[in-house]
This record gives sequence, C-alpha cells and structure tokens, in this order.
Amino acid sequence: MTVCMGNVIILGAQWGDEGKGKIVDLFSDRFDMVVRYQGGHNAGHTVRIGDKTFVLKLIPSGILRPGKRAVIGNGLVIDPGALLREIEMLEAAGVDVRGQLTISNRAHVIFPFHRVMERLSEARPGKISIGTTSRGIGPSYEDKVARRGIRVADLLDSDLFASLYNGLAEDKETIAKAFGIQEPLDTGAIRAEYEAFASRIRPMVRDTGRQINDAIRRGENVLFEGAQGTMLDIDHGTYPFVTSSSAAAGGACTGSGVAPTRIDGVIGVSKAYITRVGGGPFPTEAHGEAGDEIRRIGNEFGAVTGRPRRCGWFDVPLLRYTAEVNGFDSIIVTKLDVLDQLAEIPVCVGYRAGGVEVTEMPATTKGIEALEPVYESVAGWRTPTNGIASFGELPEPAKAYLKFLESKTGIEVGCVSTGPERNQTMVVPGSRLERLLGSARS
Ligand code: GDP
Ligand code: IMO
Ligand code: MG
Repeated sequence: MTVCMGNVIILGAQWGDEGKGKIVDLFSDRFDMVVRYQGGHNAGHTVRIGDKTFVLKLIPSGILRPGKRAVIGNGLVIDPGALLREIEMLEAAGVDVRGQLTISNRAHVIFPFHRVMERLSEARPGKISIGTTSRGIGPSYEDKVARRGIRVADLLDSDLFASLYNGLAEDKETIAKAFGIQEPLDTGAIRAEYEAFASRIRPMVRDTGRQINDAIRRGENVLFEGAQGTMLDIDHGTYPFVTSSSAAAGGACTGSGVAPTRIDGVIGVSKAYITRVGGGPFPTEAHGEAGDEIRRIGNEFGAVTGRPRRCGWFDVPLLRYTAEVNGFDSIIVTKLDVLDQLAEIPVCVGYRAGGVEVTEMPATTKGIEALEPVYESVAGWRTPTNGIASFGELPEPAKAYLKFLESKTGIEVGCVSTGPERNQTMVVPGSRLERLLGSARS
C-alpha cells in the first residue's frame, strides 16, 4: 500500500555518490513511479539488498521494487548498449524490466563517436581535464544543445535515423581527423548496431512526459531520482568541473515534462562528510592521512570508474548553497557510521578569503580555490553506529553532531543512514521528511 504524499524529488546535495541509490530504493515502496530526469550511465547508484549488490547507471533504482514503474525521462542521454547491458543484468536477477521500465522518445542517444570526442577534449594539450567518466555524456549533450542530436524517436524511424546519423557521423569523422585521430570509426557497422538496439528497446519507448502526467492526474505519487549532485549541475555547480546536465531540482521538471506546480517536496541526500571524483575545487578536502582513512573506512571508490574518491569534511556553507538552489525541505545524512572511530570531527562552518568572510559561493574556480574554510570541531562518539535504525539508539555525541549540522545549515536532518542496507536507516520522528514520505517502513 502506498502511504504518501505527492511528488518528491530526491537528489544529491554535494558532488554525487551521496547514497541516492540506497535512499531511493528504500523510499520507492511508498511511490507508484520512480523517474530519472538527467545524466546517463555516468551515474552509479548502489543498492544493497541482502547479499545482492546492484549498481544502477541509467535505470531508476525504483526498478528493484516489483510492480513499481521506472521511467527514463527526456532529460537523459542514453547509450543503448549500456542500457541493454543493464537490462540484461537486472533480468538475470529476476527483475521484470520490460514490465516496469519505459524510456522517453525525447531522450538523446550517445554514439561511440561521442566517446572519441570526449577523449579528444580531455587529452588536448593546454586544456584543463575535467576528469570525466569517459562515457560520452558531455559531447552528447553538446549535440543536444547545438540542435543536431539524435533522439530515441529518431532512432526508431529507420529512414530518418539513417540520414541524421550519416550527417552527424561525417561531422565527427572530420573533426577527429583534424585532431589527428586515425582510428577509423566504422560508421556503417555502428549504424547497423544501433538499428538492432532500436528494435530491442522499441517496446519500452513512449511519450514518458504524458505517461507521468497521466499518473499524476490519477492521483499516483511520483519520486524523481537525481543523478550526480548539485555541485555537478551545469549551471549551479563548480563550472567547468561539472557534468553536462541539470542535476539540481529544477532539472526534474525540464527532464521529465512535469510542471513545477506538481512538485510537493525536495529532499537532499548528503554524506556525513563529503567526497568528490574527478577534478575541480573542493574547499574542505582532507589531504593526507585523514582523507585516506575516510576513503578506506567508507570504501570511497567510484561505482562506475573505480577511481578513488577525494574525501573531506562536511561543508555547511556549501550545503546552505545547495539547499537554496534546490529548496530542500529536509536532508538525509548517509554514512554516519563511517565517522564512528573519530575522536573529533571537523566541520566547515564558514568561508574566508584573504581574511574576509565570504557569504556567497564564488562563481569561478579561482574564487573557490581561494576560500579558506573555517572549521569547528565536534566531538566524535567512538562507538559503532553501523546498522542502528532508531534515532533514540544513536550515541548522544552522534545525535549532537546531527543537531550541529541542522542548526548550522538551517535545514532539518530528517533521516539518517548507518549502513548500505535498506533497514540501516532511520527517519527522525516528527520530521518534515516523515510527513512528506509517510511513516518509516523498510
Ligand atoms: P549514489 O551515486 O548517490 O547512489 O551513491 P553510490 O552508490 O555511488 O555510493 C554510495 C556508497 O555508499 C555505496 O557503496 C553504498 O552502498 C554505500 N552506502 C550508502 N549508504 C551508506 C551508509 O549509510 N553507510 C555505509 N557504510 N555505506 C553506505
Ligand atoms: P552519481 O549519480 C560522482 C563527475 C565526474 C567528473 C564530472 C564530469 O553516481 O552520483 P561526466 O562523465 O559526467 O561528464 O563527468 O562529473 N561525475 C560524478 N561524480 N558521482 C556521479 O554520479 C558522477 N557523474 C559524473 O567524475 O568529475
Ligand atoms: Mg554514485
């Protein structure tokens, strides 16, 4: 039985990997439909159910709940090969993907030449490397914005696809040659491969905007699952060290075709500390032993690329910024257990630059790199919290840490996670999140 509530966006409050997959999986039983609205298979959302671990890249985490509808919205860029591999992985685990999943006819398609273009851009001498996931995400969004991209609907129309594809592939070959890339793009073979992909995904493709809006009209509840995090948003993140899509809450509307007036709540997912993968400024990064220790205990290695994640301390001004951009009603703090052994936990409570207080998030890399975090130290609890699922059972200093974050950010902590499993989570009694999502259930 669904016990909530309306249409809610759950998204990352920092630079991704906050634990969105676990949280969306946990709460998706209260919704009828789970929708991804941006990004592509650069995302890696880990869901642990018993002894099984799933890493979802393109397909919403709600797919793991039997009977729930999962939607890939128009705001995504889809590599059909990656999508089919993910479908096969889920089907092998017994998930009824074809019965639950729909794919937007307006989503854009990633081709192998997009990966070539990305490699070219990342490796160009003199150009700053973003440290991307090398999935062709950025170049595919470039084609979308330049109005020459190929969408799923085009892929399904074989004549139209052939002409659009030939034109686009020719452009890319010309560029690749100009940059000295000799490896031939076997464009004919790729076209045939994509035609085969088209016939496999065709039964799942539809106008998902209409599908979601119809569901909302029927009174069903929709959960929007963000990928990446607000600081990786193309507009509001640490540009240019961002991804190429609108990861922030606004993207849920443009990326799904649902109006802002239909959204009832926005929830941010934040780690009890912070991580970042790839390049770019990170004011509270913990270098040396402290960062290594968090990485080791938190197993902070990328779910998609396996790269070590950079680790650092909770950043209050950053959270205040992302709360403003997204309008968070509540935040969920994950991975509290990773801090269990620390005697003292530094928390950044403000920024200064050249001795002067900074109250706005600087727009430039140079501006962010100039920030000097002001830390306050909060007492640790040095007791295992792993698996605790009731707020009352948390050690007092852990509660005090969460209260400290709440008072400094001005946003309630509505839920806390103490392990990767569904039931290693607690909803704070009386919180706004509890009212938004219904009573705690796992
Ligand atoms: P996402 O991209 O936001 O879905 O996050 P990832 O899946 O990339 O990374 C989060 C990692 O932390 C995954 O390995 C999760 O299984 C794990 N995880 C999630 N919540 C918790 C938690 O509360 N404690 C611990 N120890 N691990 C967690
Ligand atoms: P989830 O959804 C963490 C980062 C990359 C790189 C930048 C641009 O699992 O939280 P891209 O390939 O998107 O052009 O790379 O964004 N990045 C992520 N970091 N979690 C993710 O997804 C990410 N998706 C992209 O490391 O710095
Ligand atoms: Mg991830």
